[in-house]
Formats: sequence, C-alpha cells, structure tokens
Amino acid sequence: MIRAVPNVAAMASYALADLGDTSAVSLAQNESAHPPSPAARAAGARAIETAALYPDPDWRDLRRAIAAVHPVAADDILCGAGSMELIGALIRAFAGPGDTVLGSQYGYLFVATAAEQAGAAYVTAPEPELRVCVDGLLSRVDATTRLVFLCNPGNPTGTRIANAEIVQLRDALPKDVLLVVDQAYGEFDEQDHAPIFALVGRGDTIVTRTFSKAYALAGLRVGWGAFPPAIGAEVRKLLNPNNISGASQAMATAAMADQTHMARIVGETAALRDTTAERLRAAGYDLPVSHANFLLIRFADAATAARADAALRAAGLILRGMGGYGLTDALRATIGPPEAMDRMCATLEGLPR
Ligand SMILES: Cc1ncc(COP(=O)(O)O)c(C=O)c1O
Repeated sequence: MIRAVPNVAAMASYALADLGDTSAVSLAQNESAHPPSPAARAAGARAIETAALYPDPDWRDLRRAIAAVHPVAADDILCGAGSMELIGALIRAFAGPGDTVLGSQYGYLFVATAAEQAGAAYVTAPEPELRVCVDGLLSRVDATTRLVFLCNPGNPTGTRIANAEIVQLRDALPKDVLLVVDQAYGEFDEQDHAPIFALVGRGDTIVTRTFSKAYALAGLRVGWGAFPPAIGAEVRKLLNPNNISGASQAMATAAMADQTHMARIVGETAALRDTTAERLRAAGYDLPVSHANFLLIRFADAATAARADAALRAAGLILRGMGGYGLTDALRATIGPPEAMDRMCATLEGLPR
C-alpha cells in the first residue's frame, strides 16, 4: 500500500464553495462584482504577446507598484499565487509537528488547512459577539505557539478591530511568535493602516494582502505580503519559482497603479453592502456591521438557514454555508450586482424568520 505522510493522510481537503448550477449567480466566494481596471485589462492583453517567456521570478514591476502606494519597501515584499500561497508557505516555514498555529474562532479557515499540511496543530481563541478578542488570543498562547493569525476585517464575520488593538497584541506577544495580519479585505476598511505596516519593521510581523477582492482580479491569483527580510528569505524558499504568470503580474501592476478605479469600486461595493444590510435588518434579520465585500446573515437556527439557502438557490443565487466555521445558523453573501442583491433581499423578505 502506498501511503501519504501521516498528517496528509489524516487531513481533509479544504472545503471550497458548492457553486451548484452554473447559470446561478455566485455570491459565495467574495469576488468583485465589478470588472478590473481598464488599464489592467490593457496590460494583460499586451502581456499575452510574451506568453512564450517565463515571467519575472522577482515580480520587480509589481513590487515597485505596490511600494509606490503602501508604506512598505519593495525589497520587503513577496508575491504569491494568491495570498493563500503566502499563508501556506509561511506556516510550512515556521511550524511543524509539535508546534501550534493560533487563530481566532472565525478566522480564515484555510489557515487550519495549511497548519494540517505542515503537521502543526491549529487552535483558536473565542470571538465573543463575532469580533476578534485580543485578550482571548493572548490567553491561548503557550510554549508551542509559533504563529498567530489575525484576519482584519474578519472573514466570514466582516467585523474589524481597531488597528491600535493589533499593535497592543503585538506588544504583548512573545517576540519569538510571528504575528500574521491578514488584510485580504483591508481596502474596505477605512482605518489608517500605516501602524500595521510599521509593525513589519520589528522583525516579527507580516502583513498579507490580495488582488482578489478590491482589485477584482481573483482569477489571476495574485497576493502579496510585507515580510521582515529574515522571515521573507525563509518563506521565499518554499514558493515555486515563477509562481505568478506574466499576464497576472502585468495586470496586478497596472491595477495597483489605478487607485482611482479601485477606490471607486470599493466605494460602490460598500454603499450597496450597507443599503442591503439595512434592508435585511428592517426585515428582521441579524447581521453584524461589515467592513468587507460581504455580509454575514444570521438566521433563527440551522434549519431556518438551510431553508433560506434552498430558497435562494431556487431563486438562482448561491450563498456560502458557514457550517465549517460552526456558524450553521448563518449564510455569507458576497456583495454582487445590484439586481442580485435586490433578488436576495426580496427572497429573504418572503421567508418566515
Ligand atoms: C481572509 C482571507 N485571506 C486570504 C484569502 C485568500 O485570497 P487569495 O488567495 O485569493 O489572495 C481570502 C480569500 O477569500 C480570505 O478571505
């Protein structure tokens, strides 16, 4: 019998969204409802002409474009095939059997999968009222803790904590524990993020971001992170060489340079998110205030959520069940086109609560 190594044989695959019927509108993966920047699309068309060549393995133009916008040195940036690749490589580089990766109760579930891939344990701290609790995280740190993951704003809650609280968490964590601040939805959070990027200079903190949400480039698989040089050098060994295609790099570079487009589609998404949330609250639904491109809708119980899911699917809308997070009474809805949001609200308004 040919066997995988024990931790791989024992683990389950990462649970992807059930997208069902392809004619339905997917509100299940927090993708952008808007097209990417026209400049990005033009850059992609040009880059296709050089598809016979391997891409820049050092992502030089892309790193320069990111550093022109964010308070991060281009040399401290690593780029991944989605921020997922960076999260996985970080965990494999710094945690293994006997080590623990600490996350928050409703933290991004891929972190649990990546910890299992590395043979490390994944533990979580409770999130009272669907909000990350810094004291709770600190109380779960022990001698085995290697990395702490904090997603702000959170997925699937959409809630956020003040960046000042993250700075306090970093100050209170042991210096040999890495803190990873996952800002996949950071562009939707109007807080000043300079204090979070400044933590990278301490040598023990990483900030990750993605082009998949605010930049509307999920299909290109581009993420980036600000890494202290010594940490980045280790992570880099685990990234596949030439990990991001030339077209993806060219499009992400142009998208980063077009902050006007990004800010416009983030603003429109946030406005539609807030009016949709208000409409659902007026209909009697419970939703935490979201600082991301999705809403978490709470139902009376798991059976009510399942009935709502079925009704929404019948109406051609696919939301994401939250059972994996222990939130069986909830569905998560990406902010999609206005017509889909209207259809979602109308369907939910017609159901018994
Ligand atoms: C919190 C969070 N982090 C990271 C990611 C990974 O995004 P990507 O690999 O597309 O950059 C996601 C994707 O949904 C996410 O929700």
